Amino acid sequence: MGRIHFGGDYNPEHWPEEVRAEDIRLMQEAGVSMVTAGIFSWALVEPRPGAYDFDWFGRVLDDLHGAGIRVCLATMTASPPPWLTEQHPEVLPQDADGVRRWPGSRQHFCPSSPVYREHAVRLVTELATRYGTHPALESWHIGNEYGCSNPRCYCDVSAADFRRWLHERYGTVEALNTAWATTFWSQRYGTFEEVFPPRTTPTFPNPAQVLDYARFCDDALLQCYLAEKEALRRITPDVPVTTNHMPLHKPVDPYAWAAHEDVQALDFYQDPYDPETHVGAALAFDVTRSAGGGRPWMLMEQAPSAVNWRARNSPKPPGTMRLWSWQAVAQGADAVLYFQWRATPGGAEKFHSAMVPHAGTDTRIFREVRALGRELAAVPQLAGARSRPEVALLADWHSWWALEQGSHPSADLDFAETLRRHYRPFFDAGVECDVVPPDRDLSAYRLVVVPNLYLMSTETGARLTEFVRAGGHLLVSYFTGISDDCDRVHLGGYPAPLREVLGLRVEEFWPLAEGQHLPLTGTLTGSGDLWSEAIDLEGAEEVAAFGAGELAGRPAVTRHAYGDGVAWYAGTRLPVAAMRALVDRVRAGAGVAPVLPGLPAGIQATVREGAEGRFLFLLNHGAGTATVTLPEPMPAVAGDGVDPAAGPVASVDLPARGIVVLRA
Ligand code: GAL
Repeated sequence: MGRIHFGGDYNPEHWPEEVRAEDIRLMQEAGVSMVTAGIFSWALVEPRPGAYDFDWFGRVLDDLHGAGIRVCLATMTASPPPWLTEQHPEVLPQDADGVRRWPGSRQHFCPSSPVYREHAVRLVTELATRYGTHPALESWHIGNEYGCSNPRCYCDVSAADFRRWLHERYGTVEALNTAWATTFWSQRYGTFEEVFPPRTTPTFPNPAQVLDYARFCDDALLQCYLAEKEALRRITPDVPVTTNHMPLHKPVDPYAWAAHEDVQALDFYQDPYDPETHVGAALAFDVTRSAGGGRPWMLMEQAPSAVNWRARNSPKPPGTMRLWSWQAVAQGADAVLYFQWRATPGGAEKFHSAMVPHAGTDTRIFREVRALGRELAAVPQLAGARSRPEVALLADWHSWWALEQGSHPSADLDFAETLRRHYRPFFDAGVECDVVPPDRDLSAYRLVVVPNLYLMSTETGARLTEFVRAGGHLLVSYFTGISDDCDRVHLGGYPAPLREVLGLRVEEFWPLAEGQHLPLTGTLTGSGDLWSEAIDLEGAEEVAAFGAGELAGRPAVTRHAYGDGVAWYAGTRLPVAAMRALVDRVRAGAGVAPVLPGLPAGIQATVREGAEGRFLFLLNHGAGTATVTLPEPMPAVAGDGVDPAAGPVASVDLPARGIVVLRA
């Protein structure tokens, strides 16, 4: 992108046209270089079916261009206009009980609806035809947060589309019956016509059906995106396309979508009331960057201050908006944008903060926005640089969909929470991570972490085994490698695809009662909770054992030297300190060092490397000033208490919420 872009959602339709001159002036003052425009403009640009009123929108683009502001142009399809659903009520989505979702909000469309897609593509074609060569156009922003409010529709249109999708996937109804194990509970199907979406059932639905429905629903959303993308590509083959994802959003698999996006875009709303908010953000940023194979990505939305959709909406205390924006840049973002430019007086988001607040520009928020915009404008050399983590965590949306269903040994398994727990010790230690899907090439990593990957194909098991044989280090946690892609259990002792590399067999799961803790004995201290299991060693050595309960004396954590590498296994959920101790040992064996040794608590350190050099980012998420001693003197690029014009510095004093970027 050539620079670190700065800006936000621009919704000029909320205001009389005269306001725009001031908008543009203020954008320039604030260093705004990019806006995404038109996201919810459908009803205004197409007030009647096929009748367009684009004049006002064209003037907006012209004015932005005149001010040198690039536009990531939205395709306007996230909120269908009232005429569409009035004329075609079948476009409206239905929940699993058959209850219809009505217009009056947004995203009130069934993703499988051909009527919705046809109207959306018609609008997008019109947009691309009109503005495809507009000089302000930088990229296309397709839809908006797919699946935020309509992740799953269970209507008859969806049912028919699901049957088509199943037919394509399985070919014959016999193959479907086998995949879904429909001999169980008399579910055998004679034709595809007999199959329904997993609407509300008297008791547990077929788990493979639920899993396939999650796959289908994600795919239906993706097909909406692709229908628009195809129209855009036909008319503007060289203009990049993207869509903004929500963080760790269960219905939408970011890895599947990434293949169809030219740049990854994420919306992340840090919660000032959550002391761990920056850790959750770090994980989501790493997922986003990894989905794009490491290329620079866009933070497409964040709040300048408070949001309006939590139960209690804290403003961002002074300095945190800057810190959390720099955090995205430190983790690979080349664009930092907000929702939204100017706070509206009406509508459902009137109490959401904006870059220009209700109180105007003589405000803390605008001053902080302006300062950050100027700061980011001064560091174009950072753009394009990439990080190169040596650790990968595996995440798999299909496994997530299969894991969190009823009828399992425990209802307490929560994939996102487990992923965070495995990510946290690396973040705390200053070790950068990628978060990749299981089919990624793992050869560039020294260490691969596999948290609770319930669904695992035999091929993935074989690849992980090979990874260790060739010298890689592997850390696997409980209830991993249990079922295949159709959610059928791998027989012969759990986790069958990994038994050889882990050197063990799990004979029986022993999930723990609520609040139950089992003390650990051996070389890890603390106690496991949530889960335990009966492990038989088959070559692995015991690192820690259960010190109480029915499994007292049996292994809880193991280590197996295999080929040229080592495979570790945790058969219980470890508390934070024990997890940290385990990860430190695993890392030491794998030769994975933090970005800087001896980082003070609360300091995040990352490296981005590119054509313009190698840059070290230091961010202080802690409450007090911290001194970071550098391994060698480095010139400063930007940040607090440093002068880029002065010579190299040997250490930095980072105030709370401070940031520094150095040339490493
Ligand atoms: C996002 C959405 C934006 C705006 C924002 C408010 O989910 O994409 O349009 O609603 O939330 O935080």
